[in-house]
Formats: sequence, C-alpha cells, structure tokens
Amino acid sequence: MAVTRTFSIIKPDATRRNLTGAVTKMLEEAGLRVVASKRIRMTREQAEGFYAVHKERPFFGELVEFMTSEPVVVQVLEGEDAVARNRAVMGATNPAEAAPGTIRREYALSIGENTVHGSDSDENAAIEIAFFFKPEEIVG
Ligand code: RTP
Ligand code: MG
Repeated sequence: MAVTRTFSIIKPDATRRNLTGAVTKMLEEAGLRVVASKRIRMTREQAEGFYAVHKERPFFGELVEFMTSEPVVVQVLEGEDAVARNRAVMGATNPAEAAPGTIRREYALSIGENTVHGSDSDENAAIEIAFFFKPEEIVG
C-alpha cells in the first residue's frame, strides 16, 4: 500500500457545533495526517462547481444551500491508502446506516447534514485538492 492523499471537508453542521477538533482527532486516530487545512466560507459558485456531478439530483439545491450556510474546513489528508482509509472512518452517507466508531455514526445529524465529505477515488481526490489548494499550501 502506498502513501496517498485525499480531500476532506468538515461540513457546516460540524463547524456550527464546534466539532472541528473532534472530527480531526478521529481522522488522525485513523492514521491520516492533515497536510493542509483552512476554514473558509464556501461561495455558491464554489459549491455548485464542487458538486457539479450531483446537479441533476433532487437534493442538489439543498446541498448547495447547506454547504454555503456556515463555514467549512477544507483539508488535504495523507496516509496509507488515504481515500479508502478516510471513507472507512467517515462511515456510510446516511448516519442511520453508519457503523459504530465512524464519524458519521458519532456526529452526523442526517443524510444531508452528515459532518464530513471525503473523495471517492484517487482521481477525484486530485481534482478536489486542486479545486481548493495551491501546491504550496500543502506541506507533507
Ligand atoms: P460526500 O461526497 O459528501 O463525501 O458523501 P458521499 O460520497 O457519502 O455521498 P454522495 O452520494 O456523494 O452525496 C454527496 C452529499 O450529498 C448529500 N446528500 N443528500 N438528501 C439526500 O438524499 C442526500 N443524498 C446525498 C450528502 O451531504 C452527501 O454527503
Ligand atoms: Mg461523494
């Protein structure tokens, strides 16, 4: 297994409840290292661009509203097989289906307000990292 990178977002439901440290602790305990991090207020343009793959889905408007409603923390995470490792600690999209010990089981409020985003492939991780970070902002 190689050391790779993935992209993470701590979503508005978590920043609102002051859980950025608690979520990051779970990521770190899962073997991931935060090599870039910034707290931003996502613009509508950024949210629509980032989630363009979902634009035909019925929840798209709600998703964009939510992601722009309060600050988020965007992060680059590094570790052995980072995409899969992060997806494992995140848990299922719907917190009702998320396994015990996962971030979403512990903290998510609903399928929409589900605390974290994580890239779903190495290819998308590279695209998503480049969407929010310049190379010099990532310090491994
Ligand atoms: P993410 O992209 O945020 O890591 O989550 P995911 O892969 O587990 O889920 P995905 O299918 O990519 O959906 C992206 C985000 O859209 C919201 N969603 N809402 N109301 C709904 O039925 C619904 N379904 C998805 C969630 O915030 C989900 O994380
Ligand atoms: Mg996804």
